[in-house]
Amino acid sequence: MHKQIVLAKRPKGKLLASDFELETVPLPTLSDGEVLVRNSYLSMDAGFRYWMNEGSGNNILPAMTLGEPVQGVVLGQVEASRNPRFQPGQKLMARLAWQEYSVLTPDNDAVYPVPGGWPCADKLFLGVLGETGMSAYIGTEDIGKLQPGQTALISAAAGAVGIVAGQISKIRGAKVIGIAGNDKKAQKLISEFGFDAVINYKTCGDLTTAIAEVCPDGIDFYFDNIGGDMLKSAIDNLAQGARIALCGAISGYDQTQAQPGPSNLFNLITKQATMTGLMTHFDAQRYNQIRSQLFNWLDSNQLKNAETLYQGIESAPAAFSAIFHGSNFGKSIVEI
Ligand SMILES: NC(=O)c1ccc[n+]([C@@H]2O[C@H](COP(=O)([O-])OP(=O)(O)OC[C@H]3O[C@@H](n4cnc5c(N)ncnc54)[C@H](OP(=O)(O)O)[C@@H]3O)[C@@H](O)[C@H]2O)c1
Repeated sequence: MHKQIVLAKRPKGKLLASDFELETVPLPTLSDGEVLVRNSYLSMDAGFRYWMNEGSGNNILPAMTLGEPVQGVVLGQVEASRNPRFQPGQKLMARLAWQEYSVLTPDNDAVYPVPGGWPCADKLFLGVLGETGMSAYIGTEDIGKLQPGQTALISAAAGAVGIVAGQISKIRGAKVIGIAGNDKKAQKLISEFGFDAVINYKTCGDLTTAIAEVCPDGIDFYFDNIGGDMLKSAIDNLAQGARIALCGAISGYDQTQAQPGPSNLFNLITKQATMTGLMTHFDAQRYNQIRSQLFNWLDSNQLKNAETLYQGIESAPAAFSAIFHGSNFGKSIVEI
């Protein structure tokens, strides 16, 4: 027998831990071509919220099914294999499910080996040395192209991606302003992670004004994890030639209707600014090279890993809902 977390209800508005249920079910048996994976870590990724909505997704990745295990990225080890490509003991990361054991089918197109030979814990490959770190790096380096003395504004600054993006911006010599949802996070970003200032968007009053006060010369780079009104406030404060990296739009993930875009896009014209979307996994061929840079920064203490580690598969619903209620800090990982 093993445990799994299923989607019990389609979340309505802000997701709750009670939208999920814990089940104990028999261990699956394998058909030809399949692999049994013993999961060690579950990566908590806000983007999976979208596939919990009725009718979301497409024919390649359709909406999650009610009563079925919740899909997500996991890191695990091959327990048994009926596929010659995988041997017992091999470690891998894949889009599987919130289960103690998962079956990897031959048609799964999101399977990656855990990189070998790195002197660090495997779980870092789900966070700062994985998609999280890659997103922060690609957004900040490829799109941000910061020069020393420029101003970077980072939303969800205490989240997994934002806290790495902010630190990379600091390494590049920028003045780094974060946006976060509580004062405790804000203090920690300043005292431990090198941010110059952090705006609490829940208590600052008008966010456009609050950004203007902290960034009187405007912002040269905005790393957007949120979309919606926060993006609009950033666009109101662009400096000439500013860059915006669109990484995520978490403010819309619990909406069932498409959200209207910012009404002030004309500012991009007058400020000769650019706004560029990023989709990290399309750059998978660069992961090793980027990982080396991130690892060197970690090793030289220029970059600090920020992580919240939850214990036991039972904690996955609370860990995931914490992201939408802003009670997480850094990368959220469930250890099984
Ligand atoms: N494009 C890509 O390839 C790629 C890859 C990975 C992730 N992403 C995206 O990047 C974004 C950040 O991911 P992450 O893993 O860093 O997130 P995270 O660690 O899960 O943190 C998300 C943070 O967003 C804030 N938040 C949540 N709901 C909000 C709302 N409605 N309005 C404003 N703030 C809200 C919360 O902090 P506070 O409210 O306390 O500030 C929360 O801690 C997500 O949108 C994700 O989908 C994109």
